[in-house]
Amino acid sequence: MYDLDQAICERRSVRGFLSKPVPRDVLEEVLALAQHAPSNCNVQPWRVYIASGHTADTLRGALIQAATTGESSAMMTPIDRFFGTYREKQIACAVELYGKMGIERGDRVGRLKASLRNFEFFDAPHVAYICMAKSFGIGVALDVGMYVQTLMLAMQSRGISSCAQAALRAFPEVAAEHLDIPDDEQILCGLSCGYEDPDVPANQTRQPRDPISSNVFFRGDVC
Ligand SMILES: Cc1cc2nc3c(=O)[nH]c(=O)nc-3n(C[C@H](O)[C@H](O)[C@H](O)COP(=O)(O)O)c2cc1C
Repeated sequence: MYDLDQAICERRSVRGFLSKPVPRDVLEEVLALAQHAPSNCNVQPWRVYIASGHTADTLRGALIQAATTGESSAMMTPIDRFFGTYREKQIACAVELYGKMGIERGDRVGRLKASLRNFEFFDAPHVAYICMAKSFGIGVALDVGMYVQTLMLAMQSRGISSCAQAALRAFPEVAAEHLDIPDDEQILCGLSCGYEDPDVPANQTRQPRDPISSNVFFRGDVC
């Protein structure tokens, strides 16, 4: 088993998977670990719908169809717009990913194809849709975010790779139909998961992190 530091440092977003499925008992093991995530008042608000096999394939097909036929991709909760230095980081993130995929900056078709990979779940054998009640706001979304990271680390410790995907907030009606997501729930993100295909160029992506001084501000004396 990994130690925690190793799981934290080695987890990264994987965007190319082998078709080999993760055995059900291993999936249940990581899901049971993730249940230990904290939540305000211990309400455990995450609702997780996992598609595998034929269900994953038909959902993939339906999402690609929706994304390529010009249907609107109204998201229940839009993806945030990044500004200033956040926008710069967003661009740097895309440059690193598309660079590793061999897509030039002006290559609109290449970029579109790359973004459609989200709806193919990057060929992952499983996709988890992470949801919460529609009536909840950012406080509960914070709980669900903690759950998602706990789940990704639990997966990492078992050699299972993943990619969180805000892109899978698009076409919520398609996902709801295939996964039987209740009407009163909203999708926060998807999580494609499985075993990494090391030969996929996108998996050479390495996203850097800033030093803690960019994000953390000590006030008062720390010894
Ligand atoms: C909530 C969330 C949503 C994300 N959405 C997407 C997405 O839609 N598509 C994608 O390819 N990556 C997505 N990512 C992955 C981020 O791009 C990635 O975490 C970031 O670039 C840092 O890289 P790393 O995960 O490899 O450390 C998302 C990550 C998070 C946490």
